[in-house]
Amino acid sequence: MKKLGVNIDHVATLRQARGGLEPDPVLAALVCEMAGADSIVAHLREDRRHINERDIRILKQTLKTKLNLEMSIAEEIVKIACAVEPYQATLVPEKRKELTTEGGLNTVVYFNKIKCACSKLENQGILVSLFIDPDKKQIDAACKLGVRRIELHTGKYAGSKNENEQKIYLEELRTAADYAKAKNLRVFAGHGLNYQNVKQIAGIEEIEELNIGHSIICQAVITGLKQAVRQMKALI
Ligand code: PXP
Repeated sequence: MKKLGVNIDHVATLRQARGGLEPDPVLAALVCEMAGADSIVAHLREDRRHINERDIRILKQTLKTKLNLEMSIAEEIVKIACAVEPYQATLVPEKRKELTTEGGLNTVVYFNKIKCACSKLENQGILVSLFIDPDKKQIDAACKLGVRRIELHTGKYAGSKNENEQKIYLEELRTAADYAKAKNLRVFAGHGLNYQNVKQIAGIEEIEELNIGHSIICQAVITGLKQAVRQMKALI
């Protein structure tokens, strides 16, 4: 069975919609753990649109599993990560205007900047994973950077417009996972995975862990709504 990392960013998105304290992503993370999540993923974005420093500090203190901090290589964020010391840092590209992480980190173009961030994080004992496209050049550069973990971006596969396209992107992921595993990397995957498309990715042997957020939070809203309404109705 694959390991599941649950991304709780969108619980924080909902909190930010009212600017208050609820729903608390920390509480949500604990519920995910009780349901069997193997790790909790949270992205501290430079614009703090959902997760904030308080969240990752308390997550680090309270989680019984592992905190996987998604983050850019910006100096300010690296500094915070070094202070909080999550179990793992997953380095991702970040653009202010994007709705979600759009592509993998370009390990070839940003080699030196990534190297610098990796050294600082690793010096603090934080494991580093790179979120990259399923591409041999990116995997080779990840190896050169000395990291032992990568997360393959499944966004293209998830966004396929038809079965044929999906087959092509699935094969791309299979080939990349196989190539990376042969280079002794630990291989994870995520982005855009949902209840309809996850099975085929879960069938790729070399992939150890899937990191999933949006679809799980969406499902939770729908499946939890009936009980929430009933509870309110009983009160009034
Ligand atoms: N893995 C990484 C590196 C991501 O950036 C994201 C999105 O924050 C995910 C996994 C989860 O993607 P989704 O929310 O589409 O399941």
